Amino acid sequence: MKEIPEEVRRKVEELREKIEYHNYRYYVLADPVISDEEYDRLMKELIELEKLYPELVTPDSPTQRIGDMILNEFKSVQHSEPMLSLDNTYDEDQIREFDDRVKRSLETKGVEYVAELKIDGVSVALRYEKGKFVLGLTRGDGTRGEDITENLKRVRSIPLRLRKPLDVEVRGEIYMPVEEFERLNNERIENGEPPFANPRNATAGTIRQLDTRITRERHLDSFIYYVLNPERYGLESQWDALDWLKDMGFKVNPHSKLCINIDEVVGYWKQWTSEKDKLSYWVDGVVVKVNRFQLQKMLGSTAKAPRWAIAFKFPAQRAKTKLLDVTIQVGRTGVLTPVAELEPVQLAGTLVKRASLHNFEYIEDKDIRIGDWVYIEKAGGIIPQVISVDVSERTGEEKKVQIPESCPVCSGKVGKLNPEDVALRCLNPHCPAKLKRALETFVARNALDIKGLGEKIIEKLVDAGLVKDLADIFYLTPFELTQLGPGIGHKTISNLLSEIERAKLTPLHKVITGLGIPMVGEKTARVLAQNMRNIRRISTATVDELTQIPGIGPEVARSIREYFDNEKTKHLIEKLEKAGVKLQEDQEQQNQTLAGMTFVVTGALRNFSRNQIEDIIHSLGGKVTDSVTKNTDYLIVGENPGSKLQKAKNLGVKLITESQFLELAKIEPKSLQQQRLF
Ligand code: IVH
Repeated sequence: MKEIPEEVRRKVEELREKIEYHNYRYYVLADPVISDEEYDRLMKELIELEKLYPELVTPDSPTQRIGDMILNEFKSVQHSEPMLSLDNTYDEDQIREFDDRVKRSLETKGVEYVAELKIDGVSVALRYEKGKFVLGLTRGDGTRGEDITENLKRVRSIPLRLRKPLDVEVRGEIYMPVEEFERLNNERIENGEPPFANPRNATAGTIRQLDTRITRERHLDSFIYYVLNPERYGLESQWDALDWLKDMGFKVNPHSKLCINIDEVVGYWKQWTSEKDKLSYWVDGVVVKVNRFQLQKMLGSTAKAPRWAIAFKFPAQRAKTKLLDVTIQVGRTGVLTPVAELEPVQLAGTLVKRASLHNFEYIEDKDIRIGDWVYIEKAGGIIPQVISVDVSERTGEEKKVQIPESCPVCSGKVGKLNPEDVALRCLNPHCPAKLKRALETFVARNALDIKGLGEKIIEKLVDAGLVKDLADIFYLTPFELTQLGPGIGHKTISNLLSEIERAKLTPLHKVITGLGIPMVGEKTARVLAQNMRNIRRISTATVDELTQIPGIGPEVARSIREYFDNEKTKHLIEKLEKAGVKLQEDQEQQNQTLAGMTFVVTGALRNFSRNQIEDIIHSLGGKVTDSVTKNTDYLIVGENPGSKLQKAKNLGVKLITESQFLELAKIEPKSLQQQRLF
C-alpha cells in the first residue's frame, strides 16, 4: 500500500473543513463568502486527492454529498426514543384548553411557550458520533425507521460535521421549497408523469429514492428543532436548544418565538395565518411547546404524542360542495384517473368545478360516494382535490363509485402493471384515448408544433380510423381529410397538409420530445439530440452509453432503452423515416455564432416566446440557464424584467436588449417576419 504523506492528510482535512464551512455559509446561512468558482476549485482539489488516496475517503467527506450511488434497500433501524406525533387543534378555544390543561397539571398560573412554524415536510432523526453524521432515519412507525443516511447526505443544509465532536441525536423536518416543488411538478407533467399532490408527498417520495442522484437533484432542505437528552449539553429549555442547534451548524427556522403566555401564542398564530404564503416553503400551522424541559418531563407523553406540545393548525383553504359525479380520464400512458365533477364552488379565488380523486384506492379509503357533500382543498395552493366527506350530510341516496372493470373509452381490459401500483391502467395498447393523448403530445408546440391539429381534429382522425399511430399523420391524404365532415373545408385541409409537410423538418430534439418517451422531457431530449445526432444511434445505444451523456442517469437511460426495444417503436421509427421525417440533426448547419456564450432571459420579448429564443440560442451553439450567476455572459432584457436584472447588475453581467441580441446572433430582423425560423 502507498504510504500517505502527512501533509496530504493535513491538506485533505483542511479542504474538508473549508468546504463544509462554505457549504454552511451557502446552504444554512444563505450568505456565501466565496464565489461558486472558488468553491468548485476546493471541491475539485479534494476529489483529486481522494482519487489518489482512496484510503483517505471518509463517510463524512463533503465529496460524499456529490457522488451518487444506487442503494439496494433501506434498512430498518430502531429509534433511540420513539418518534411521536402531535395532537392537533384548530381554533383559539382549543388552544386555550391546552394551556389550561398544562397549567392545571403543573399547578401553576403561568407557563412559557415556544411557538414554532409547523413545516409541511417529513420528520427525520439524525445521529452524530464524535460530531460526525453517522445515521439518518425516517419516522417509520415511530418505533423503527428506515435508514436514509445516504439520501440525507445529499440535503445540503444537513451538516456532515458539527462544530463540536459530540455524540448527539437531533430531529427535524425535511421539506421541499415551493419553487423546487413547482419546478419538479412541471417537469413531471412534461414527462407524462403524475404531479405530486403536495410538497410533503414530494419530499417523502424523494427521500426514499434508491438512486441518490434523484434526491441530490431535487434540492430538499431542512429545519432542525429537537435535541435528544438535552440535559447532556447543559440545555434547560427549548429556546436554548434552538440556539444551541444553530451554534452546532444546523439550519434552524428563524421565525420561532418565545411567548410568555398563551395570548402571545395566539397572536403568533394569527400573524402567520395571514403571512404564511410569503414564505418560500409550506407550513400548515404552529407547534406550541412548553419551553422548560423540566416542565416537559413532568407533563410526559401518551403513547402517541407529548402532553407538552400541540399543533395549532392554520385554517385550511377549503370549501364544501356536492359531488355530482365521478368521471374517468384516460391518460397517455393509459392511467385511469377518477375526477370529481363538483357543484361549482369558490375556493381561494377561483371557481372550482372539478377536482382530483387521485386513484380508486383513495376513493375507497375515504369512502367517497356520488351525491356526498365533500371538502375540497387546494394542495400546496395549486391543484384542487377532494379531502374528505361530511358524513353527517348523508341521506342514504349516495351511490358507491364503481371501480371500472374495463376502459371507459375502448372497453379494453384494465389492470395494474405491478401489484404494488395504485394506478389502474387500460391495458389495451390500441386504446384510442391513449393514442389521442399521445398525438396531442406529438403535435404540441414544444414538439412538432403542427398548427391546426387540435384536440377536436385528433379526436375525429382517431375515431374515423384514419390515424392508428403517430406516424399516420404523415400519410394523410386530402381525400381522407375531406371525410372528416363539415367544418373542415378546403382551406383548412390545405393549411393542415402544408403544416404537416413542414413538420417533417422539425429539429430532432423536438421529435424526441414529441414521442413521449417516459422520463424524457424537453431538456433530456435536447441533450440526447446534441450528443447522438440521429435517432438510429439513440435507438441502439446501450444503457452504459446513454449514462455517459451528461444529465442522463441510469433510470432515464433504462427508460429510453425500454422504449426503443419495443417492437412497436421500431415499426414507428421506420414509418416516420419512410414518410421523410428528418430524424437527425443537421450536419451542415454548423453555425456556431453563439458558441461558448451563456444567456439568461428576463421579461417579455417582442419577437420570441421563451421557447423560441432558447431554441435559437441552442441551435447557434449557446447555452441558456434559468438564473444569473458569475458565469452568465449576457442577460437579455425584455419588457417588465424581474429580479434577475438587479442580480445581473450586481454581478456586472452584460445587459443586452432583444435587438442587440439579434445583432449578436447575426439574425436579420426581417427574416423573422418572413419565415418561422424553427
Ligand atoms: S415537534 C415530539 N416541531 O409535525 C414532538 N414537529 O404533526 C415532535 N413538525 O411529526 C414534533 N414542524 O414531523 C415539531 N417545529 C416543529 C415541527 C414539527 C413540523 C412535524 C413533525 C411531526 C408532525 C406532527
